[in-house]
Amino acid sequence: MTFTHDRGHLRAAWGDRELLIDVRDGAPVLRHFGAALGDDLAALDLLLDRPRAKGVLDVEAAVSVCPEHGSGWPGRPGIVGHRSDGSGWAPRFSAQTLTIEGIRATVVAVDEVAGLTLTSEFELQPASVRIRLRLTNTADGPYRLGELTIGVPVPASHGDLLHLTGRWSHEFQTRRLEWPDGALTFDNRRGRTSHDRVPCLWTGTAGFGETTGDVLGFTLGWSGNAVVTAERIADGRKIVQFGELLASGDVELGPGASYETPWLEVASSSNGLNGVSQAFHASVRAQAAAPKVERPRPVLLNTWEAVYFNHDLETLTRLADRAAEIGVERFVLDDGWFHGRRNDRAGLGDWWVDDTVWPEGLQPLIDHITGLGMEFGIWVEPEMVNPDSDLYRSHPEWALVEPSYDPVLGRQQLVLNLGRDDVRTYLFDHLHALLRDHDVRYVKWDMNRDLVHASSGPRAAMHEHMLGVYRLIDELRAHHPGVEIESCASGGGRADFEILKRTERIWTSDSNDAFERQRIQRGFSMLFPPEVMGAHIGPPRSHTSGRRHSLQFRAVTAFFGHLGIEWNLLETTDDERRQLADVVALHKRHRRLLHGGDVFRLDLADHAAIGHAVVAPDASEALVSFALLDLPDGTIPARVRLAGLDPERRYRVEILPVAGTPEHPAIEQVAWFADGFEATGRTLMELGLQPPMLDPESAVILHLQSSPPDPT
Ligand code: GLA
Repeated sequence: MTFTHDRGHLRAAWGDRELLIDVRDGAPVLRHFGAALGDDLAALDLLLDRPRAKGVLDVEAAVSVCPEHGSGWPGRPGIVGHRSDGSGWAPRFSAQTLTIEGIRATVVAVDEVAGLTLTSEFELQPASVRIRLRLTNTADGPYRLGELTIGVPVPASHGDLLHLTGRWSHEFQTRRLEWPDGALTFDNRRGRTSHDRVPCLWTGTAGFGETTGDVLGFTLGWSGNAVVTAERIADGRKIVQFGELLASGDVELGPGASYETPWLEVASSSNGLNGVSQAFHASVRAQAAAPKVERPRPVLLNTWEAVYFNHDLETLTRLADRAAEIGVERFVLDDGWFHGRRNDRAGLGDWWVDDTVWPEGLQPLIDHITGLGMEFGIWVEPEMVNPDSDLYRSHPEWALVEPSYDPVLGRQQLVLNLGRDDVRTYLFDHLHALLRDHDVRYVKWDMNRDLVHASSGPRAAMHEHMLGVYRLIDELRAHHPGVEIESCASGGGRADFEILKRTERIWTSDSNDAFERQRIQRGFSMLFPPEVMGAHIGPPRSHTSGRRHSLQFRAVTAFFGHLGIEWNLLETTDDERRQLADVVALHKRHRRLLHGGDVFRLDLADHAAIGHAVVAPDASEALVSFALLDLPDGTIPARVRLAGLDPERRYRVEILPVAGTPEHPAIEQVAWFADGFEATGRTLMELGLQPPMLDPESAVILHLQSSPPDPT
């Protein structure tokens, strides 16, 4: 799959999808991204031609990747900016050069009057495309850039919108909207990808579902402030725009300097949201940093909810013994190990081992853990500093604050200015020493507050800071290629495609409540594959919500992600640990499928039900999760139609006993519950199956296995 150039269009095709980009003049225009049209390019101009209505401009400006007010585009322009004399505020690009290098195409357009060059880059992914823009100042004076967004036209038939929102411990919630008159904007000013305005959007034909409807999906690879808009023009045209949200004065381009947007990834599907998710998953899986099925995701234990800040060698050693006994492969020491960190009010910035709590350093614990055959991982929050720290006392000027105002604190901490070389050098030196001097295989990289007044001196400095964060992680990875990194940000606050180029896991949510997790993880799966989704079995009573759940429901819910345990095993019964050991063993047996298969979220008739499947790439095997979160609509749960199976294969369907099976007096009334049954993929997808009776807040996993279809 590569780009070709055909009659003024860039063209790419994958299976049933086709992308056509008009590169004849000015900024490129995405003319079609959808079902493959075959060889109908010649008809395109005629078919897409629009008659002139009365009372409109004589020329209709194109919905280009960077629409121009200067050409008459009445919506939000792709560029906001100007020079000190006010010029350059509404550029119009013309003439262009096109370069194609396999999966990459670059289009350069110029505006000689404004002294600006616009470079549009397109990069093909396994089943999607990435787009980014670069603006270069070719004039003598500086150019002040306010916004550079990437625009993609959306078909008029896409009447519905869907986005992801949420908050701490209730992340990745999907919301549906009708396309509004005018514009809808989701500005994220939190300084991290955020819980509430995740920079992504789906548009589709009215009522699109998981398996039905024409859908386009968009996600911006950026971990800082972002702008996302969906706009309808009075003439009926629709556009979405994505970019970094720049603070006033943050980006000023000197002569010859450039600004580059983040990558916007776009995927198309005629089979509902699942098709878009699978395309996104494929591009995450294709990245160098992505976990590969050949290296199974190690089951981990995280100490946070087990001991919080109460670090002590003897307790943690015993916890490690218990973890190893149940089959844990990675032991992660969370917050509380470094200088002065006895609570969440002090210590951030002082990245050396606290010798009051760890008089012999971390080595005795690490030796114990590695001696048990587990890997050791550790928590850090490098971008942060507590005012109560040696670092802040010696370098208050390193904080990212506006020095003329009192800083706004969050969790008693400030953010360091990673746009500064000296700050990055300090952090690199300390983190490098930590990784060099200890056998650390995994870093949980946290980021626990919004950015406010992110300034360097009086000027906004958010953009350089964000690039500095990426640079620091990249430098550490280059020196420690064997160390995996988890992106945390209070759970789920920094989950995007750019951070995933340099991290292997996302801590999905601080909530280990299985009820919450069912929806959180479903929303997460809209963008990311299960192997990067941190999912932990917590204690019986959730620390974030107070809800109580059976081990069975907690284990089934966590089973599909990168499995972990976050529970004080020293407070567990022998029976609980035996069951945990069984769950861990079962997860290991199935993780190749769980972490390499195709994800299908199910459209279920019952509002109380939630379900999804992971299907092997050759459709020979699948694991299906079915949960009830509430009392069913009817007296029994509605039938479930499966998805993603091979219609011709015959599958044997059985309950997978993950920590046993749910308890319900009538559970065995579904005849197949005890011994399973066989049916073709077609029957399971068309007729569906009757799920067993369950109480609210419980779940089962079905295991489907088939022999290859009979060739006769
Ligand atoms: C954040 C993370 C938690 C934990 C704490 C430690 O809240 O999301 O998982 O690491 O910080 O302070």
